[in-house]
Amino acid sequence: MVKAYDRGFRALDGIDLRIDQGEFVAVTGPSGCGKSTMLHLIAALDTPTSGAVLVDGKDLRSVHDLSAYRRNYVGLVFQLHNLLPNQPVLANVEVVMFGTHRSAHERRARALDLLARVDLAGREHRLPAQLSGGERQRVAIARALANEPKLLLADEPTGSLDSVSARHVLELFQSFHAEGMTVVLVTHDHGIAAAADRIVEMRDGRIIGGVARTGTAATVPAVGPA
Ligand SMILES: Nc1ncnc2c1ncn2[C@@H]1O[C@H](COP(=O)(O)OP(=O)(O)OP(=O)(O)O)[C@@H](O)[C@H]1O
Ligand SMILES: [Mg+2]
Repeated sequence: MVKAYDRGFRALDGIDLRIDQGEFVAVTGPSGCGKSTMLHLIAALDTPTSGAVLVDGKDLRSVHDLSAYRRNYVGLVFQLHNLLPNQPVLANVEVVMFGTHRSAHERRARALDLLARVDLAGREHRLPAQLSGGERQRVAIARALANEPKLLLADEPTGSLDSVSARHVLELFQSFHAEGMTVVLVTHDHGIAAAADRIVEMRDGRIIGGVARTGTAATVPAVGPA
């Protein structure tokens, strides 16, 4: 898979990566090597210049309703979490469930559950500005999980956190993984990466190495041929 920008610059230069269902993969590499670009392509927030992204065997180019794919299949956690500043925490989680099968009552109940799960019970009615950075990050995680994604994509979710908060966020990811979710986590933190099943290392738009931590999944190629 290739992603080229202006003047032929290749942010992704022949990526061939396979991620198995239920795997927990950490992606590492220096700034600018293409980590976020790769997550954006998997989330269908952008499209490859050549090659394909296959999810559950389906080529994303043949998926007509990509917003439904993003809403129902993928949970996204970015470092800049883009919470709605004028809405309380509870509404920030509920909002992504609009347009799904859930009633207002169910949306409220699920948002409360998820916020409790990320240790924010009692903070539901605060505005994002009234939370710490780590708490805001956990709101973003609760929001990403609201529609029960099969695939959780997280771009440096612990980047701005102290080590205790980072550990807490990591434990949350590990518990989702234990429940069967596929997790792809971009991180500069080797301690965090070491908790994954596999570490994928990138340089200059390429994958230069993959270390399997557990299991046998490391040798299979992830996101479509170049
Ligand atoms: N819209 C764009 N137009 C042109 N170049 C871009 C665009 N977005 C990203 N790039 C370039 O593509 C390369 C990969 O960017 P990307 O954001 O994927 O890096 P990254 O590995 O996530 O880095 P970081 O660790 O700093 O977040 C960079 O050189 C970046 O400047
Ligand atoms: Mg990035």
